[in-house]
Amino acid sequence: MSTPPASDLDRRVAELLQAARRRREQGRETIAAIVRHQPDAIVRAYSRVRFMILRQSFLDAIGQYFPERGEILDLGCGFGLFSLYYATMGPERRITGVDLDARRIEMARRCAAALGVTNATYIAEDVLRWRDERTFDAIYMLDLVHHLPVADVAGTLERIASRLAPGGTLIIKDVADKPTYKMLFTLALDRLMVGFEPIRYWPVLELSSLLRALGFDVRVHPIRDVLPYPHVLYVCRRG
Ligand SMILES: C[S@@+](CC[C@H](N)C(=O)[O-])C[C@H]1O[C@@H](n2cnc3c(N)ncnc32)[C@H](O)[C@@H]1O
Repeated sequence: MSTPPASDLDRRVAELLQAARRRREQGRETIAAIVRHQPDAIVRAYSRVRFMILRQSFLDAIGQYFPERGEILDLGCGFGLFSLYYATMGPERRITGVDLDARRIEMARRCAAALGVTNATYIAEDVLRWRDERTFDAIYMLDLVHHLPVADVAGTLERIASRLAPGGTLIIKDVADKPTYKMLFTLALDRLMVGFEPIRYWPVLELSSLLRALGFDVRVHPIRDVLPYPHVLYVCRRG
């Protein structure tokens, strides 16, 4: 029995589905390669866990706001896991990662070199002191805000916002203070990583009001997880 000829629309839908499948597969392979190329066994284990928490669908939900080409800034980039992901998935992007921890930055550079990624560069610097003359088409901060001193957050966000190109997007992924059991779960894990350093999980209303006061149009998305993390995504654009 012969299959009826597909209409142009059917063909187009099939092509789009095929392209989405290929991209998803490329994303899976990219994550596996980033984990595999970590220069240190402990960081390799950490990376595996980090990519389980901020898994591919989550990263792609964030990545949809990034242009395919242009300057992108990752503040508090840690070991560079996610900047390496976005740089590999968008070879025409130029990504700059900034982190206070010089060891993490060194690991990020080594991993980029091992992967042959040339469109991600890393700077060891405190975000509170960081200055850059460039403007960026997108800026993101994944789980950084709750580590910053409360008194510095408004000024830092204002300075960061001034580096955003017209029409650019600021993405903040952070952890909310509610529900309490989820917040305590996250706090226990954060304490394992940073000891007794100050941490503040901002109430969603407070952080979104602050961002709106800086002139952003803010959309807030809670993100569900099988683990009890109160993840929240703030998508901020200037009108
Ligand atoms: C929870 S980790 C998140 C790392 C990475 N964004 C990720 O999602 O895997 C927080 C990162 O923020 C960095 N950090 C904390 N305070 C900072 C500051 N004042 N300036 C720059 N980086 C900072 C830490 O060194 C750490 O790598």
